[in-house]
Amino acid sequence: MLVRRLPSKTAHQFGEHAKMKLKVLIVAGDGIGPEVTAEAARILRSVAEWGGHDFEFHEALIGGAAIKAQGTPLPSSTLDTALESDAVLLGAVGGNEFNSLPPDRRPEAGLLQIRQALGGFANLRPAFAHPALAANSPLKPEVIDGADILFVRELLGGLYFGEPRQWDREAGSAWNTMRYTRDEVIRVARIAFELAQKRRKKLTSVDKANVLEVSQLWRATVTEVAKDYPDVALDHQYVDAMSMHLMNTPRNFDVVLTENLFGDILSDESAVITGSLGMLPSATIGGQVNLYEPVHGSAPDIAGKGIANPLGAILTAAMLLRHSANLEQDALAIETAVRKVLEQGYRTADLARSEKDKKMLLSTQAMGKQVHEALNEIIDKRQAMHAV
Ligand code: IPM
Ligand code: MN
Repeated sequence: MLVRRLPSKTAHQFGEHAKMKLKVLIVAGDGIGPEVTAEAARILRSVAEWGGHDFEFHEALIGGAAIKAQGTPLPSSTLDTALESDAVLLGAVGGNEFNSLPPDRRPEAGLLQIRQALGGFANLRPAFAHPALAANSPLKPEVIDGADILFVRELLGGLYFGEPRQWDREAGSAWNTMRYTRDEVIRVARIAFELAQKRRKKLTSVDKANVLEVSQLWRATVTEVAKDYPDVALDHQYVDAMSMHLMNTPRNFDVVLTENLFGDILSDESAVITGSLGMLPSATIGGQVNLYEPVHGSAPDIAGKGIANPLGAILTAAMLLRHSANLEQDALAIETAVRKVLEQGYRTADLARSEKDKKMLLSTQAMGKQVHEALNEIIDKRQAMHAV
């Protein structure tokens, strides 16, 4: 018997028409945080409007802005609202005026506290070499061409949170503790393997197992977890060697799994591949509420000038749609829109290297607007196609 199947476009259309309800908390924070999150939020609002989704936005203080207004880097009202939200979109925290404060009173403490309270332990940091930005990397175009890496940084353990920690000023001695439990490694490894299954099925686990016991536990545990994912090829690298391989052969890597501090360092290094730190988005998943933040930080030297690159924050908004709203098509549309404006030659200051680039220089807002227009066009076309 011949069964007529639904054309896949129709099936797809049903999925697309699911209306999403989402409560998003925006914590813009310090430095360029407010400027770039404003552009990301504009994009999210339009996606909701065009798709008929019900997105509710709230705003709250964090970091230096919260210290100034309320004397603490993470006010309880911010945390309460965050815990009631479906997703938190964060700009950046930190500023030079707070540099002399002890670690637990600095703006960064607010970020670490909100990460811990929301519970997300897997911080996804994609690093993708946009062909249009190939000339921006100090690496040769043939080295970065096609590089597409997904870092999975463990976010709630290691040196950032390990106890004991102290600076004993009298003794002139200070210590931090790099500590992991087997369970903490298992849960983040599982997420990394699952993501690898959806990509090129390769996972590189990064540690320092030639010196550190905590890395030996890490390596043994990841090796054990790998047995459940026989379709994923696992290899291990020491972090020092990895920092070199990343620059020599970035195309060799697919998913890179590593502990908190190593992930912090390697993800900044990967900005060399993308051409600018301003391009890097991130999503933190696995906890009660997902947390979305661009990798770039507060950049106090350029804050308030309207010249920051909003693309990291806009790509972060795409990750929010993908991981918190199940709107994969919209996430892809944003990523395509970003690619298009870069191909058209538009640049923010951090991306403008050549004379030709400098003629296409845009402010933060103008870049946001270009992406918005490109996205509008992509979504219009998609809806027209589905309407046939
Ligand atoms: C990052 C940042 C943060 C970190 C700082 C601001 C605490 O560098 O998200 O990479 O070290 O995690
Ligand atoms: Mn960092």
